[in-house]
Amino acid sequence: MEEKKKEKSDFRYSTGEAKVPWAAIGENVNADDISEIIKFLIPGGDDKVAYDEQLLKVEEEIKKLKEKGSYATKLSLGNKVKELEEEVKKLLKVKYACFVTNATAGFEIGLKFCGLKPGDEVIAPAITFLSTIQYPLEIGAKVVLADVDPGTINIDPEDVAKKITKNTKVIIPVYIGGYPPEMNSIMKLAKENNISVVEDAAHAFGGWYQGKASGAIGDFGSYSFHEVKNVNSLGEGGIVVTNSDFGEDFPKSRFGGFDIAHPIEKWLYDVVALKGKGEHYSVAGNHSSTEVQALVLLNQIKRIKQIIEVRRKNAEYLNRRFEGVKGIIPSPLDTDEIKGTYHLYLFQLNPDKLNGDIQDFKKRLTEKGVTQIPHFAPLYRFSYMKQLGYDTEAMKKTCPNAEEVFLHRFTHLPLYPLTEEQLKYMADAVVETVEKMRR
Ligand SMILES: Cc1ncc(COP(=O)(O)O)c(C=O)c1O
Repeated sequence: MEEKKKEKSDFRYSTGEAKVPWAAIGENVNADDISEIIKFLIPGGDDKVAYDEQLLKVEEEIKKLKEKGSYATKLSLGNKVKELEEEVKKLLKVKYACFVTNATAGFEIGLKFCGLKPGDEVIAPAITFLSTIQYPLEIGAKVVLADVDPGTINIDPEDVAKKITKNTKVIIPVYIGGYPPEMNSIMKLAKENNISVVEDAAHAFGGWYQGKASGAIGDFGSYSFHEVKNVNSLGEGGIVVTNSDFGEDFPKSRFGGFDIAHPIEKWLYDVVALKGKGEHYSVAGNHSSTEVQALVLLNQIKRIKQIIEVRRKNAEYLNRRFEGVKGIIPSPLDTDEIKGTYHLYLFQLNPDKLNGDIQDFKKRLTEKGVTQIPHFAPLYRFSYMKQLGYDTEAMKKTCPNAEEVFLHRFTHLPLYPLTEEQLKYMADAVVETVEKMRR
């Protein structure tokens, strides 16, 4: 079969129809490459002979398939990425969505549109992942860490209110484990003080808060599709969303400020600086993702409702099992207005009622073979803040809840994919452990 011509690639190589096509476009992914991917994604099991036999058949079939068809000719920023973005817009009822390399890139894009510059202040919760505040730290904005609500370990709006100054430019609320922070109070504070909101919705894709998609309430929100998330795009990926008109410029913000729609004279495109709420800025990064990543995510998104449903049921089961066990603080579940994504199950103890705290509990549970997935330590405890000149001891003093829950109260338990047996084993182990720790 005749080789299909390379599709017109993204805007960089859009040179139009030609009798002699521009050949300087990369090597195809061929049958060997595809076999290697299959071997990687489905590595051998216990029966090596049977695996090798099956693999040989698959490799032969791929070669035969190639004879009937042709290789994909577009690998980056093509129709699959567009399809994914359209699907996400529909699903979340949001105006703009842009598939990028990871959630962290999405925060950077959102914060740049918010006009964040060196010296501006950004308020983020003390308990979150390092990347929530990476861009502000990188450019020399001042990060102010707010204390957390001990019930959800999400950002505490009352402490945010205390820490707002005339220099506060952005608040970054985080949906820890997929459970929404108090977005109403955050949005009210932001509006009253002319502050932007960039949501760290890394864990929150598919969640809802008062009828709005988690992550699509503030000025910008960014989701993670890293391999450990509820759904993933082959290991890494992110989507940044907005309802503001700045979303028109998302494709340019993803890739260098390239503007193919308005080429300069005698050239194929223009390169523009972008303008959000602040001064013009130059787009330094390339945050583009691939077609195959988009394709996998599109497929996984079809299952997101069922995945969250299973996770929710498992969390409800754990809450039922822990009900009435003295010393266990129940995990927050869905309400009429709040639909979490149950990325993590927040497990908390009240050490006042027990002989020991979460540190003792974690050791005992590990001895019983139950893995925990604690997210996260307070950010002022890591070296980077001190090395950048922050008075981390002073920060710690302003976040007493973060200290207390981190040191004595919380961990996270896995929810998915667990068999019924594993879930029950974990619940039994937790109850037994806490009962042994009872005063
Ligand atoms: C709360 C939180 N924010 C941000 C991120 C960063 O996401 P990504 O790895 O997609 O950049 C993570 C990643 O796990 C996270 O847990």
